[in-house]
Amino acid sequence: MTAIPRLPWPAALTTTPGWSRDLSRRRLAGLAATTWSTVSALSASVLDVPQFEFKLAAGEHLHILVGIAADLEERLHELGSAPDTRQLSPRHRRQVTSTLAADAATLRVGLIYGYWLPRLAGEFEGLRGEVDTLLDGPTADLVRRADEQLRHVRRWGDAAVAAACSDGSWADAARALDETVADDSEPWPVRPRDGARDERFHSFSHTRDYRRSADWVEGDSPYESDLIELLRVNRDEIDAIETFALSIFDLIRKGPIEALTHLARLAWDEARHAATGDLVLRERGLDPYAFSCSLIGIKVRAGMDGYDPWAQITLFGELGIIGPMRALARAAHAAGDQRTADVFDFICTDETLHLRQSRELLDRLHPAGGLERVAETVRARAAERIAELGIMKEEEFLALSREEIFALIGE
Ligand SMILES: [Fe+2]
Ligand SMILES: [Fe+2]
Repeated sequence: MTAIPRLPWPAALTTTPGWSRDLSRRRLAGLAATTWSTVSALSASVLDVPQFEFKLAAGEHLHILVGIAADLEERLHELGSAPDTRQLSPRHRRQVTSTLAADAATLRVGLIYGYWLPRLAGEFEGLRGEVDTLLDGPTADLVRRADEQLRHVRRWGDAAVAAACSDGSWADAARALDETVADDSEPWPVRPRDGARDERFHSFSHTRDYRRSADWVEGDSPYESDLIELLRVNRDEIDAIETFALSIFDLIRKGPIEALTHLARLAWDEARHAATGDLVLRERGLDPYAFSCSLIGIKVRAGMDGYDPWAQITLFGELGIIGPMRALARAAHAAGDQRTADVFDFICTDETLHLRQSRELLDRLHPAGGLERVAETVRARAAERIAELGIMKEEEFLALSREEIFALIGE
């Protein structure tokens, strides 16, 4: 009988003395604090940094960052320690506030992707060489995966910083962030209350009904009209990215982690839908920027807080959009328009998931208590906002059916 060849020892199953559970917990708590601070700065900036590409990237990156933060919280829990890493230290609060005070969009991009992301990535990279990969294997695995995901985030971030601030003007502001001092009275950072669009977009904000926008043109067939309308609807889900990002920002301190991870998934999905709208309009030989962008959704929701913007979009927006998109996907399959069928099959899959999971979470978590009451609460809040914006009187809005509210504000 031939000898069984000796196989290599698994590299991660090795240990060196010095790593302790206490040390692991301390380091993980520090990483969680930096991760949540980065999420705060990024989620608030989704609103007022105007560039389309920033909003798309931020949607994807929030999903990655909140996922990492959730893994850190779970591991801390396993290690028998549950520090509240989401309260942010006074110094972190001050740093986030200073970041958000950078008015120029270029400077903000510089601080988020030139300061916060490299700092966070550096902390993970540093830890990667220190964790005992045998005794503390789950931590080592978490840190390795986060390190790889953050490299992906930084590839876009480094290119964005180079494009936005070629003169390195953000570096002084980044140094000032490093030297921040703050005391216990430091307030929680404040987010913007409106969404911004870059100059490539023409916009309208009295309705979400594209057939009532100034640039509506009937297509060659009802099918073609529906297709263009629904591609525009998806491109304009920029305001859905903004909505879910602002609910993340508002709920960091007090929301359960399951709400935050779900919202981060929503932000990513809506970034994919907005990008899909843009790209498929281009595939059809159309210029996406020739179609004006509706802002009413974010104008109404950015003035709401916490669970409300999320509930408004779920109960009055997403519910209304799935039907028309399913109908279009069916018509596309029947007509042999495979590309359109594929695009809307995937988007409908996402939206169905959004609706199912969001309704379950909001039913359980929204302070109004139960979906019926949640719907009434956000209907009233939306009526106030619509009146403040001068779009219609509060009582007129309150008389609208769900379908009419959807036509007015959309997803
Ligand atoms: Fe969507
Ligand atoms: Fe959605």
